[in-house]
Amino acid sequence: MLAQGVDKELDTPYVPTPQAVVERMLELAQVKPGDTVVDLGSGDGRIMITAAQKYGARGFGVELDPRLVRSSNDEARRVGVADRVKFLQQDLFKTDFHEADVLTLYLLPDVNMALRPRILAELKPGTRVVSHDYDMGVWRPEAQETLPAPDKAVGARKESTVYLWIVPAKVEGAWEIEIRIGRKARRISLALEQQYQRVSGTARLPEGGSLPISEGRLRGDELRLTLPRGVVARDPVDLVGRVAGDSLSGTVRRADREIATWSALRRP
Ligand SMILES: C[S@@+](CC[C@H](N)C(=O)[O-])C[C@H]1O[C@@H](n2cnc3c(N)ncnc32)[C@H](O)[C@@H]1O
Repeated sequence: MLAQGVDKELDTPYVPTPQAVVERMLELAQVKPGDTVVDLGSGDGRIMITAAQKYGARGFGVELDPRLVRSSNDEARRVGVADRVKFLQQDLFKTDFHEADVLTLYLLPDVNMALRPRILAELKPGTRVVSHDYDMGVWRPEAQETLPAPDKAVGARKESTVYLWIVPAKVEGAWEIEIRIGRKARRISLALEQQYQRVSGTARLPEGGSLPISEGRLRGDELRLTLPRGVVARDPVDLVGRVAGDSLSGTVRRADREIATWSALRRP
């Protein structure tokens, strides 16, 4: 579809998100004052304007249709948020959105899929991504809710689904980890594999042998994984820590009680 005054086909037609759904998206993303929110394909601007008015955020929306861009900027001025919110006539595929703390989408499934590699590569770990109605394929959401949407302009069911993802840090690779229990230190090599927020791999023990690690998870830069019995203690223990580039550090927990600390460096 070619909107008036637009020389590129729209990748998604204009359909506004019902206001109750806009608010649920922003709540799910825990938008707070100072957050930078970016809405790709901003329509009449309601997501960005609500993010600024109700949640104290700032940011911008991009939209191909110049009439929608104009009316969004007019509305932002009218409600007094134009100092924090801008709408630009711009192709979302040519938009730099790396500064977002929260990215909002109401786009078609193939557009979400086309954006997925950039979302994972360009957004900082911990960035929240919320989408109305369409998911990200095999990248499973952290949360998903369906809510009534009686004033929805499309669809017979008059309900909407909202999805939340949290951009995971990158931990795939080899790590040398040191676990400090009292005055003792135990060194283990970890080989981690990562599929989006899911982490698995193997732990190689200094005395020889290796054990599998499964069900590790990342939430932004927070890593949680369970080391099987025999790696650190006779029982399985949980490693909880934060990723900062090529280093990791945190605590070792058994039955949710801290029993040691740990740190790790990525092997080149
Ligand atoms: C489904 S509407 C969503 C509007 C708004 N985000 C909301 O949730 O109410 C999608 C919007 O994306 C715009 N759009 C489509 N392709 C685009 C592109 N390549 N770049 C920027 N905007 C685009 C459309 O004009 C439309 O307004």
